[in-house]
Amino acid sequence: MFELPSQLTDQISQCGQDHVLRSWDHLDDSQRKNLAAQLTDVNFELLQSLWNQYKQRTKSERDLSSIAPPNSIRLADKESYSYEEAHTKGEQLLRDGLVGVIIVAGGQGSRLGFNHPKGLYPIGPLSDRTLFQFILDKIAGYESLYATRIPLFVMTSPTVHKETIAYFQEHGYFGREDRVQFFCQPTMPALDAKTGKLLLQASDCLFISPNGHGGMLEAMQSQGILYDCIQKGVDTLFYGQIDNPLSPTCSPALLGYHALSNSQATLQTIAKQSATDKTGSIVSLDGRTEIIEYSEIPTQLAEVTDQQGELKFWAANIAVHVFQTKFLHNVARSSNGLPYHFAHKTVACLDKNGMLHQPVEPNAIKLERFIFDLLPLAEKTLTVEAKREEVFAPVKNAPSEKFSTPLTSRQGICRLHRQWLQAAGCSVADNVRVEIHPQYAPDFRYLKQRSDLPLQIKDDAYLKDPPFNFPDSPEN
Ligand code: UTP
Repeated sequence: MFELPSQLTDQISQCGQDHVLRSWDHLDDSQRKNLAAQLTDVNFELLQSLWNQYKQRTKSERDLSSIAPPNSIRLADKESYSYEEAHTKGEQLLRDGLVGVIIVAGGQGSRLGFNHPKGLYPIGPLSDRTLFQFILDKIAGYESLYATRIPLFVMTSPTVHKETIAYFQEHGYFGREDRVQFFCQPTMPALDAKTGKLLLQASDCLFISPNGHGGMLEAMQSQGILYDCIQKGVDTLFYGQIDNPLSPTCSPALLGYHALSNSQATLQTIAKQSATDKTGSIVSLDGRTEIIEYSEIPTQLAEVTDQQGELKFWAANIAVHVFQTKFLHNVARSSNGLPYHFAHKTVACLDKNGMLHQPVEPNAIKLERFIFDLLPLAEKTLTVEAKREEVFAPVKNAPSEKFSTPLTSRQGICRLHRQWLQAAGCSVADNVRVEIHPQYAPDFRYLKQRSDLPLQIKDDAYLKDPPFNFPDSPEN
């Protein structure tokens, strides 16, 4: 029978975690190997130190005395770089092959309640294209437009890795086998919130989960991706999350603002809808850009308005960023990774008698790293405002909920595409759904250049064919 190396059992015992081996004698060989593989991956020292931090944490609120709005370009600004200048610069970066895209898709999507990786969720209102396809098609649209190649880096986690790869394989990697790379993020075990003990979901299985989207940094670094990007001249990385089909992936203007301002990190933002908006606030603290979660900002502060009566802390974080590759590489080399946050969750786990117990109250601490902890490490950042309806239609919650659901996301897509068509001179009948494929036009700028736009749309319409006649592509 398989046995654990004595070094590991000693370590488990020294850390007071012997309960994980309570059923060891009753496990068969394959179960033992399962559990052993998980235990070998656990960084017991790190866990111990995080548990100590958790116990010693004080309730003291964050020092917000230096809080100020972020360095930003607002929609109404007559700013230092015009939109056109930024757009042209961004186009140049794309043409020159200097841009890559990172999509984090390792989450468990527990709120959505979809039994597959979230990226496989069909979101296209008429096309049923998946969340992955929304991003891939957008990238392909810009690739044809600028006769370029844009490498894509997809973060998965052990929970979704195999199924994500199988999906891409099944679809011939959507024609980009040579420029898509998957990297799997690490996991962290959950701890009992009262005792710091590891939680078991079965007698041969710890309760583990991906270590947050901030796990991206260590995963890219340890798998040599950041170094590779630098070697290949990919000096700018667009970062987006899988669950926002309107994410402005490769937006030339955003890339251009980033390059012209020489920022290490650029954030696309939208204005909050109200002081109680449930998004993180992008602010400046001690001259550094930080995100304050909505639960952390006192109401009085959130409600402060400026002379025009607008919210002073107006900028909402939608997790769309552009990074200098060198900045990511330097941070990854010079630190042990981003800090861990403690999230209280309700987790079904084995009780003392080895019975599966479903608590009703949060009983566990999940340990997660957040990508936004990178921001204060940047010496120079820029925040660029976009219209909410153009860049944000997240899919977070189950269809039965009220906001950030598949339905609200689909409505957002149709609403935006309808606006584009109407602004380009096409009349769209009320209550008709429209969807535009990025090869037809990747954004409004190109939609209005089409000479074959319909004058009228009377029924649901998915504008897909013929593809945009890209004026600068080599075959023209
Ligand atoms: P969320 O924080 O919304 O988490 O992730 P989630 O896993 O998708 O959904 P819930 O909270 O379980 O319902 C925001 C983005 O970060 C990615 C997700 O895939 C999504 O794109 N993410 C999150 C990771 O890649 N890894 C993680 O460990 C967590």
